[in-house]
Amino acid sequence: MLSWDDEDTAATTAPPAPAAPAANASGQPSLPGLDLPASPAASAAPPQASRVKASEKRIINGQTDVNQLVPFKYKWAWEKYLATCANHWMPQEVNMNRDIALWKDPKGLTEDERRIVKRNLGFFVTADSLAANNIVLGTYRHITAPECRQFLLRQAFEEAIHTHAYQYIVESLGLDEAEIFNAYNEVKSIRDKDEFLIPFIEAISDPGFHTGTHETDQTLLKSLIVFACLMEGLFFYVGFTQILALGRQNKMVGAAEQYQYILRDESMHCNFGIDLINQLKIENPQLWTPAFKDEIRELFVKAVDLEYAYAEDTMPRGVLGMNAAMFKSYLRFIANRRATQIGLDALFPSEENPFPWMSEMIDLKKERNFFETRVIEYQTGGALSWD
Ligand SMILES: [Fe+2]
Ligand SMILES: [Fe+2]
Repeated sequence: MLSWDDEDTAATTAPPAPAAPAANASGQPSLPGLDLPASPAASAAPPQASRVKASEKRIINGQTDVNQLVPFKYKWAWEKYLATCANHWMPQEVNMNRDIALWKDPKGLTEDERRIVKRNLGFFVTADSLAANNIVLGTYRHITAPECRQFLLRQAFEEAIHTHAYQYIVESLGLDEAEIFNAYNEVKSIRDKDEFLIPFIEAISDPGFHTGTHETDQTLLKSLIVFACLMEGLFFYVGFTQILALGRQNKMVGAAEQYQYILRDESMHCNFGIDLINQLKIENPQLWTPAFKDEIRELFVKAVDLEYAYAEDTMPRGVLGMNAAMFKSYLRFIANRRATQIGLDALFPSEENPFPWMSEMIDLKKERNFFETRVIEYQTGGALSWD
């Protein structure tokens, strides 16, 4: 199971690989199956291409056939793909009756607690659509390792499940859908986070963007870092902690159960992204320049500031035994961890984790969840009827 301490990275699980071969003249990998205009080299490929050698696979700018999953080279990616499939869940399997009764009871929750729930959903109902866009329209096109593409396909579906889960909570509680779904345009602390992220999605989603030059390879690497370390690895954590804190007080237990499953998924996405970043760095060490590292550090500091502003906005007063100041420590603690996971020095001096119970949440086992609401069995294949 995952915990803060047993997350592996490519640096320890994957053997170093030689530097990637130079891209072809157009700066594009010459591969069928990529959603890219065919380069002259691709169109001139011999009809009987040689068989794929694992040693020739590359994370980006590879020249091997992306449609041939095996022979495996990046086994860590395949193992994470299998692990995410084993964690499959669907939102409608979670009973929301107690949440509905509590929400409708005028004395069920304080105004501060209601604010947390609405702000939370206001961020998350669109955040996972942004994450899905980033994968499907951006990252997937540029990754030339089919094992990693396989994980990204599963990740994209999980982002759809997450958006479904947030919609299911909004619908269950009878919240104003227009208000919640448009919050990313109307609530400054949410908008600011998204405005930080969107340029990194747009850069790699642009149909004219291709890897293959020093500059564009750095742009892709930066986008991977922003998404894995700062969006999935940092921007989600104030919201997750708040809803799980409600659940620990036996409030909004259905929503909290869904957030636990989402947290487990996101933890896996973040770990996969970090492995991808580290393997890309191993194969392309020339990208990791001092100036590039400085730029990444600045992005980390900016992201911590934005998430802290979100914490202050969602918690104008202490609530549930938490306050915004505790999140300053927590966010710095997480940022230090993310930085060291990708080979940067810790950014903030010796921050402690004020919420050690969050680590237990990531260790959730599907069969016996923390709130012990029920045992969940998954149907893995339905009977076909041809009538
Ligand atoms: Fe998600
Ligand atoms: Fe995710």
